[in-house]
Amino acid sequence: MLDEANKDLRSIFSKFATGVTAVTFKGSNGLNLGITVNSYTSLSLDPPLILWCLDKDSDLYEEITNLDNYIINFLSEEQRDIANTLAQKNDHILDEDQFISIDQGLVIKNSIGWLSCSKNQIIDSGDHSILIADVNDSKIIEGYPLVFWGSNYRSLLR
Ligand SMILES: Cc1cc2nc3c(=O)[nH]c(=O)nc-3n(C[C@H](O)[C@H](O)[C@H](O)COP(=O)(O)O)c2cc1C
Repeated sequence: MLDEANKDLRSIFSKFATGVTAVTFKGSNGLNLGITVNSYTSLSLDPPLILWCLDKDSDLYEEITNLDNYIINFLSEEQRDIANTLAQKNDHILDEDQFISIDQGLVIKNSIGWLSCSKNQIIDSGDHSILIADVNDSKIIEGYPLVFWGSNYRSLLR
């Protein structure tokens, strides 16, 4: 139940601007899947670690917490459509023309960078789990990020 205190908390949490990522992976059913995530943060340079938080209620919870490897794609300001699609329940399937398959995993075309990650630790915390991952590889691509602030997508420069 979303009571008043909970709504207030949601509002104040939304005042913190973040980038938007898509975590992509090959599902156990063979499908190419992704989920929109803004809880990503860098954690450690030495060793290279990142973290993000996954809702325990997600239909993808079991699937994702069992993954050994996945890609974190940093979405560009032109990728609101992908962010929207991959945030919809029961619609986490990537279109064939949206990604390329490389040795490390599924990379979303035209994102502004990606990290190839592998499972390090999963920490149970409240209604989410914190997924800590090792960074094995990465690539930077030109472009500006998609920003999420006040429950809406924004561009950095406008
Ligand atoms: C901008 C944005 C950021 C999100 N960030 C997260 C996140 O960090 N962790 C998470 O578990 N879900 C996040 N979500 C929700 C998921 O993308 C998705 O909506 C939800 O998982 C759908 O339910 P399902 O996983 O049961 O299909 C975010 C959604 C949006 C639109």
